Amino acid sequence: MASVSLRGVDKAFGDQHIIRNVSVDIPDGEFCVLVGPSGSGKSTLLRIIAGLEDVTGGSVHIGGRDVTRLQPKDRDIAMVFQSYALYPQLTVRENMGFSLKLAKRPKAEIVRIVNEIARSLALEPLLDRYPRQLSGGQRQRVAMGRAIVRQPSVFLFDEPLSNLDAALRHHVRGEIREMYERLRTTCVYVTHDQVEAMTLADRIVVLRDGKVEQVGTPVELYDRPVNRFVAQFIGAPAINFFAGVAKVCAGRTTIRCADGIEFALPGHQTVEDGQSVECGVRPEHICVGAPDHSRTDVVSMGARVKTGEFYGADTLLSCDTPVGMLATTGRDRTAYGARQGAQVLLQIPSANVHLFDRRTGLRVN
Ligand SMILES: Nc1ncnc2c1ncn2[C@@H]1O[C@H](COP(=O)(O)OP(=O)(O)OP(=O)(O)O)[C@@H](O)[C@H]1O
Ligand SMILES: [Mg+2]
Repeated sequence: MASVSLRGVDKAFGDQHIIRNVSVDIPDGEFCVLVGPSGSGKSTLLRIIAGLEDVTGGSVHIGGRDVTRLQPKDRDIAMVFQSYALYPQLTVRENMGFSLKLAKRPKAEIVRIVNEIARSLALEPLLDRYPRQLSGGQRQRVAMGRAIVRQPSVFLFDEPLSNLDAALRHHVRGEIREMYERLRTTCVYVTHDQVEAMTLADRIVVLRDGKVEQVGTPVELYDRPVNRFVAQFIGAPAINFFAGVAKVCAGRTTIRCADGIEFALPGHQTVEDGQSVECGVRPEHICVGAPDHSRTDVVSMGARVKTGEFYGADTLLSCDTPVGMLATTGRDRTAYGARQGAQVLLQIPSANVHLFDRRTGLRVN
C-alpha cells in the first residue's frame, strides 16, 4: 500500500496545455475518484501516475518516493482499463497468472495465488475459458483479478465499467468496492459518471479543463460545492439555478429575484449590496405544497407543471416559475401527482440555497 501525491503537475501535448498545475495528495489506503467531463484530462492524469505519460512540469510521488522519472513497471502499480486488455490467446487462469510467470515465481505459488483470487471474485468456474467465451462483466472481473494478483501498492482504474450495460455496471461497481474493502489498497479511479464517483469514492477530485475544481468527500461536494461548475456537475437530477441580486441592509442579506420574489438569508453572508448572484437549489429541497405562513425563511412561489416523470419511489416535476424552470423531486404521490398544466405552489427553505457570484461562478455563502 502507498500514498500518491501529485505536486504541481503540468502536461502539454505540443502547444496544447492539457493538465494545469495539479496538486493532489491521496493518502495510503484511500479510494480516490477523478471525475470530470470528457476531455478534462482524467485519463491523462491517471496515465501520468502510471508512468505511461511523462510530465511537462511537477512531480509524482508514490509511497513517499519520487517516481516521476521511473518506468511504469518500477512504480508498483496495476492498471485496469475500460477495454479489459486481456490476452485473447490465453485462458482466464493464464491471463491472471501472467505477471507472476513473468516474475518467475514458482509454479505452485502461482496456482495458489490465482486460485485464491479467482475464488474471491467468483471466477473459479471460468478459469479454463478464453476471454471470447466470457461476458463483458466477467471479462472485467478477470481484468481486476489479473491486477489483484500482482499485489500492487496502488490500483489505477480508467472507466472500467463503461463497456457494461446499466444493470451490470451497478453490479460490478459493488464488486470493485467490495474488493477495495477487503484489500484496502490505495485506488485511483477515473470516471465521467458522477453517480459512480459519489457511490465509490472516499474522496472525489473534480477536474475541468485540466484543472482541479474541488477535492472533497461526496457529502462535501454535494452540500458545499465551491463553485457553480461543481454544483452543476455533482448531483442527479441536476441542481436548479436562478438569478438574483443581493440587497444588504443593516447586516441582513436579502436576495431579490424576478417578479418581486425575494428571500432573506440566515446568518452572516459574504455578499455585497448590489452583487449579482445565481441561486442554486437541489430538486429535493424544493417542496410542492401549501406555504407555512409562519416561516419567513421559506421562499414561496406559484408555478405551472410542465412535465411529470414517475420513477417509482420519487416523482420529478419540471415547473415553469417566475424565476425560470425549476425541477423538484419528492415522494408524496398526492403533491407530486400533479398533472401537466396544473398550478402548484413551490416552497424553498432559504437555508438550502447555494449562492454563486454571477461573474466568477464562485460560492459566496
Ligand atoms: N497523445 C495526445 N496527444 C495530443 N492530445 C492529447 C493526447 N492525449 C490526450 N490528448 C488531449 O488531452 C485532453 C484530455 O484528454 P483525456 O483523455 O485525458 O481526457 P478524459 O478526461 O480522459 O476524457 P474522456 O472522459 O473522454 O475519456 C483532450 O483534449 C485530448 O484530446
Ligand atoms: Mg478518459
